[in-house]
Amino acid sequence: MSVLQPIRPVILTGDRPTGPLHLGHYAGSLRNRVAMQHSHRQFILVADAQALTDNADNAARIRDHVVEVVLDYLSVGIDPGATVICLQSALPALAELTMLYLNLVTVARLERNPTIKTEIQMRGFGRDIPAGFLCYPLSQAADITGFRASVVPVGEDQAPMIEQTNEIVRRINRMAGRAILPEAEAVIPSAGRLPGVDGKAKMSKSLGNALSLSASAEEIAQAVKRMYTDPDHRKASDPGNVEGNVVFAYLDAFDEDVAEVADLKTRYRRGGLGDAVVKARLQAILLAMLAPIREKRMELARDRAAILDILRDGTGQARCVTQTVLEEVREGLGLFTLPG
Ligand code: TRP
Repeated sequence: MSVLQPIRPVILTGDRPTGPLHLGHYAGSLRNRVAMQHSHRQFILVADAQALTDNADNAARIRDHVVEVVLDYLSVGIDPGATVICLQSALPALAELTMLYLNLVTVARLERNPTIKTEIQMRGFGRDIPAGFLCYPLSQAADITGFRASVVPVGEDQAPMIEQTNEIVRRINRMAGRAILPEAEAVIPSAGRLPGVDGKAKMSKSLGNALSLSASAEEIAQAVKRMYTDPDHRKASDPGNVEGNVVFAYLDAFDEDVAEVADLKTRYRRGGLGDAVVKARLQAILLAMLAPIREKRMELARDRAAILDILRDGTGQARCVTQTVLEEVREGLGLFTLPG
């Protein structure tokens, strides 16, 4: 039988397994991955090695979340028959590519990476930044190129990583004199990032403003209740602000009835629409969306061995792919290889 398979573009994404994935991950990236898994060749990396770059003293946190993150993937609809789910630290080719890339970039360039720069400031690292953390953009470049990915769905804060990856890709292709590696494109959700329930720009477990994917009906109700709206919108009859209003940000992200949301916004702005009404709508939408995810997760969690099998199988497939790429990069760079 000769069926010509169309060559599907390769997607690679990853998540640091430092906590359960939440609604922000879902809106920002997981949904895209589910939608694209059949039109693309998709790999998802559980980035446990990268997680270690700022958790060196906290291996247990990472260890305990590897299986949890795989459960999150499967419960939102990532299909292990269509998507390869793999474990970063079990792919030595990625570590070797990282070693090679370390020689192709300067410390000055690493320090200029806007995401790294912000993190250094936020955490007050100064010069005491772990070297692994400073260099994690290269590990990420290894992840992306190790699968020859051309599409990388990520949050906007990760765009500088893709830019830095492409600099390395161009450098290697130039050195090799041929296109060994493809350039990658970041796919960033147009809606922007989902705010935390408290109105802070970022939803994050550590900020305590996240809604986890396995949230119960009770937790969803609580989160919606405390959700930040417009502090000046005291009475239903007051005109209200839609911008910066978390309830509307979530409706924009999850309500499929776009016309109805537009209408609600008009009425809210004009005055006469109370927070309670909009919140009730959002609560119903979140419940309907998250209940099947939570149920599927509970069911899958009963068979831990099956989850490990999925991860083991995916990692095996990924090992072949990444090893081949490593060999081609080594050859392209003209490195000595000890004959077998
Ligand atoms: N840095 C990403 C994050 O913190 C995780 C990640 C690791 C990743 N390797 C990747 C994302 C490769 C995209 C591609 O979310």
